[in-house]
Amino acid sequence: MNEQFARDVMHGLSESPKYLPSKYFYDKTGDRLFQEIMELEEYYLTRCEFEIFQNSKQEFLNHFLAQSKAFDLIEFGAGDGKKTKVLLEHFMERGADFTYKPIDISANALDSLESDLRHGMPQLKLETLQGEYFSVLSQLDKTSDRTKVVLFLGSNIGNFLRPVALDFLKQLANTLKKGDMLLLGVDLVKDPTVISKAYNDSKGITARFNLNLLHRINSELAANFDLDKFSHFPLYNPISGTSRSFLISRERQTVTIEKLNASFHFNAWEPIHTEYSHKYRLEELDQLAESSGFETVEHYFDARKYFTDGIWRLR
Ligand code: AVI
Repeated sequence: MNEQFARDVMHGLSESPKYLPSKYFYDKTGDRLFQEIMELEEYYLTRCEFEIFQNSKQEFLNHFLAQSKAFDLIEFGAGDGKKTKVLLEHFMERGADFTYKPIDISANALDSLESDLRHGMPQLKLETLQGEYFSVLSQLDKTSDRTKVVLFLGSNIGNFLRPVALDFLKQLANTLKKGDMLLLGVDLVKDPTVISKAYNDSKGITARFNLNLLHRINSELAANFDLDKFSHFPLYNPISGTSRSFLISRERQTVTIEKLNASFHFNAWEPIHTEYSHKYRLEELDQLAESSGFETVEHYFDARKYFTDGIWRLR
C-alpha cells in the first residue's frame, strides 16, 4: 500500500470541506485519460504550447547557448515528451551539444519515455533521472560549466497554490547557479468561457479523469465509492483566475475505506475539492520571476495569446 496516499486520503476526507490532492490523478488510467484530454478540442493548453515550440524553437536554442557551448535540458514531469520532442529534434538538427535529462517520480513513465526516445532518436544524449525533482536536481554536478535549462511545461505550475508556486520557484533557484535557465509554460487569464470549457469537455473525458480518483481509492485502498453517485463539477472564478474541480456527492451516503479502517459520510450535494488550475497574468509572472531570484529573458506566445512560455535566467 502507498502509505503517503493512504495518509493524504484519510486527511483530505476528514477535513471540512473535503479535498483530495490532484497529484493522485496520475495512476496508469489517469495518465491515459490525461493524454486524451490533451487531444481534446476544448483543452487548448497543449496545442498552444506546441505552436509556441514550433515557432520559437530556434530562438530558444539561441538563448540556451548564450551562456555556454553546451547545456543540460532537465525536464520536470516529462510525461510522454511529445511536445519536448519538437525541441529535441530541432536542437539535434542544429548540432547543439546538449543532454536531455527528464526527471520523474514514476520509473514506469521514465522507462517508456526512454524506450520511445532511444528508438525514435538514437543519437540523442539521454539520461533519465528517477526521484523527487529537487532531490535529483541537487545531486546533479554543481561544478559543471554547462548551463542547466529546466523545463517546467504544460502549466503544471498552475496546479500549485500561488504561494506554493513561489516557494517551488525559490527552491528551484536555490539548486541552480547564476545564468542557469528555466523555460516555464503557463496558461494565461483569458475569456472565462474558453477556460470553463477546457475543464468541462463535451466528451466527458475530464469528468472520467476526475472520477478516476475515486476508482483509484477503491482499488488501492479497498473502498466502495459508487462512481455513479458522484459527478464532476468544474468552476472557473474570473476574480481569482482559478479553475477548481470538484466531485459532488449526488446523494446522502456513507463510503467505507477498508484499508483506512474508516467510513466517511457525505451529505447530498457535498463537494470534494480535487484540483486547482491557476491562470496567470503576465505582470504576475514577471513579479514571480523577480521574487524567486530570476529575471525574465523573454515571453513567447501562441497567436491568440492564450498561453505563454517564458525564458527566465537566474540572477
Ligand atoms: C496537468 N495540469 C496542468 C492540467 C491542468 O490543466 O490543470 C490537469 C488537468 N485537469 C483537468 N484537465 C487537465
